[in-house]
Amino acid sequence: MEVIITADPSSASRVAARRIARLVRTKPDAVLGLATGSTPVGLYTELIRMHREEGLDFSSVRTFNLDEYLGLAPDYPASYHRFMEENFFRGVNIPRENILLPNGLASDVPAHCGAYEQEIREAGGIDLQILGIGSDGHIGFNEPGSSLASRTRIKTLTPSTRQDNARFFNKPEDVPYHVITMGIGTIMESRSIVLLAFGAGKSMAVAGAVEGALSASNPASILQLHPDAKIYLDEHASSDLKRVDYYKWVFQNKPAWQADS
Ligand code: PGA
Repeated sequence: MEVIITADPSSASRVAARRIARLVRTKPDAVLGLATGSTPVGLYTELIRMHREEGLDFSSVRTFNLDEYLGLAPDYPASYHRFMEENFFRGVNIPRENILLPNGLASDVPAHCGAYEQEIREAGGIDLQILGIGSDGHIGFNEPGSSLASRTRIKTLTPSTRQDNARFFNKPEDVPYHVITMGIGTIMESRSIVLLAFGAGKSMAVAGAVEGALSASNPASILQLHPDAKIYLDEHASSDLKRVDYYKWVFQNKPAWQADS
């Protein structure tokens, strides 16, 4: 686990975008795992800029999103399909047929979840998974208590997550109770992980994930077992970490060949 602390979210987003761009340049048919929420918006904006200004080519990239609300149609304003379209897909050149999100209108949810896992396997697995973290430590929508070996399935949101996400809906009561999310086991099979967290509201969850005990009570703590997980934070999100000075020291003293991560 590598912790990268930058002055602000836009610096963190730029550093994380460089890492993703490097992957896409060296492996043009990379499989990306994508996340929604406020946190990755700056990262997507930077990738769009790189596409437009630096020719970063996504034409062979495939993507799988982490999650979707159950019951929401793809064009519903707060659906994650719509979020991805507006914040990323319309700005880059990923072919439509290479984009997959869980279907919020699936009639047979377990069958749909099994098929989603199969699609990921047939694509050769996910090369790099982008993650945010909930203020309760969730990754994807794997709420505290989720099996650390879980696969794509239905989950029931906690009241606090419904409240956190109410800002995307017209009325708080419009937030669905159920979602389809990749499982923690699914996420852990990704060959590398890029987790971003910004703001003081995430500092406790981040501290638990990075320096706390490995526990389903903080699902992001499973990343301690991942061989290639990088955690990009702004100062506020890092404020409850004990080893901040060491993480900054590591970043400042990287060997040249490692510097662009
Ligand atoms: P946020 O959500 O980026 O909107 O804070 C993160 C998450 O819930 O994973």
